[in-house]
Amino acid sequence: MNDPVYLYRGEVFYFKASPLDTDDFYCYFPDGLLVVSQGKIIETGTYQDIKDRYPETSITDYSGKLLMPGLIDSHVHYPQSEMIGMYGRQLLDWLNEYTYPTEEAFCNPEYAERVARFFVNELFRNGTTTCMAYATVHKESVDALFSVASGYNMQMLTGKVLMNRNAPQVLMDTEESGESDSRELIETWHKKGRNLYVITPRFSITSTHGQLISAARLHEEYPDTYVQTHLSENKNEIDSTLSLSPECTDYLEVYERAGLVTERAVFGHCIHLSDSECRRMAEAGAIIAHCPTSNLFLGSGLFDMQQANRINIRTTLATDVGGGTSFSLFRTMGEAYKVQQLNGYSMPVFESLYKCTRGTAKALKLDDKIGSFEQGREADFIVVDYAATPSQQIRKEYLERNGKWDLENKLFGIQTLGDDRNIRATYVAGNRVYLSDSGNHQETGM
Ligand code: GUN
Ligand code: FE
Repeated sequence: MNDPVYLYRGEVFYFKASPLDTDDFYCYFPDGLLVVSQGKIIETGTYQDIKDRYPETSITDYSGKLLMPGLIDSHVHYPQSEMIGMYGRQLLDWLNEYTYPTEEAFCNPEYAERVARFFVNELFRNGTTTCMAYATVHKESVDALFSVASGYNMQMLTGKVLMNRNAPQVLMDTEESGESDSRELIETWHKKGRNLYVITPRFSITSTHGQLISAARLHEEYPDTYVQTHLSENKNEIDSTLSLSPECTDYLEVYERAGLVTERAVFGHCIHLSDSECRRMAEAGAIIAHCPTSNLFLGSGLFDMQQANRINIRTTLATDVGGGTSFSLFRTMGEAYKVQQLNGYSMPVFESLYKCTRGTAKALKLDDKIGSFEQGREADFIVVDYAATPSQQIRKEYLERNGKWDLENKLFGIQTLGDDRNIRATYVAGNRVYLSDSGNHQETGM
């Protein structure tokens, strides 16, 4: 018997390549069909071209809505879900006053599982189907997130935070326990289903050189794991880092000396980098996670996307919840645009969207699995309503009247005015994991 096929009708869009490299960078079918079987993309095309090939198959009709690959959040802290939007502090005080006390509770596996479940559902509600997340120092926190993600067959990247200095006693590991706990978690979870392990030294202030070295050793031992950490987010953080490592001339060198700057390493923030640091990151193939809502909220600074682009660093967008103020990558794109406006760069909407879809998939070397609708990719996709609010609706009518309701203006509207209300449905590995309860959408065959 043939495997069942599922057809979805709507506006179909995905990136073929980077908008920074070529003019022919996307596929767009205004009246398109997405064909899915066994949780994978079979093909996309125009409704007219494809429908007759599947005469027996009913179609889920999302006409007028956008079908696009699920969003990818490259830097987020799941244990900080509850402490989103805490008032009145900048990075180092915010960590001490709010973050560390919140993370202490994740030694309790039931608690960790409850927050992990909330977090994953919140991602789906916001159209995010993959994330690279920080857990806490506790092994239990990693078990909780991988096990919730496994229940949805979701592509999940996470790892145990390593921190062995300058933190509350109950939140610290040691060089030895950090390494052996991480190794145990890698053996248990890495490449099991769609789970991938990320070796996670929090940042230089909370890890000794010895711990950074042990993280790099582990990464060498398991070369297809990832590394994530924070880099050059806040002026006081940079000063403190350099006074802890006086032998280093800049922040990046602290990670370079440990051997952590590789093409599988994602560095959060990177706001105050010199050209030299950028060039060394580009040479190493390292990845930046730009977190605009967090950078504005914590007053950390304005990331320079033109510098990163000029020097050719792989750059992705990320929420950084709970320093970030929204789980929505649409809100994140909107704030990224404003940050670049302040830098004198009107970042194209295609560039921001690429940096939360295919661009991130490519940076993470997962381009053959997620981030586009090319044949064989996992069917992780979202259904986006362009006009979910009155101001989006009136803007749409205005643009239609003026003959300007084109793809770029539609996407820019989602970026500027969009959020979770624009997500009609979210699919992971071909299964619908979220459906909003508003609207009058037809779900059955036609
Ligand atoms: N630097 C070290 N830890 C953190 C964190 O939890 N959030 C942010 N935004 N920066 C950090
Ligand atoms: Fe962060």
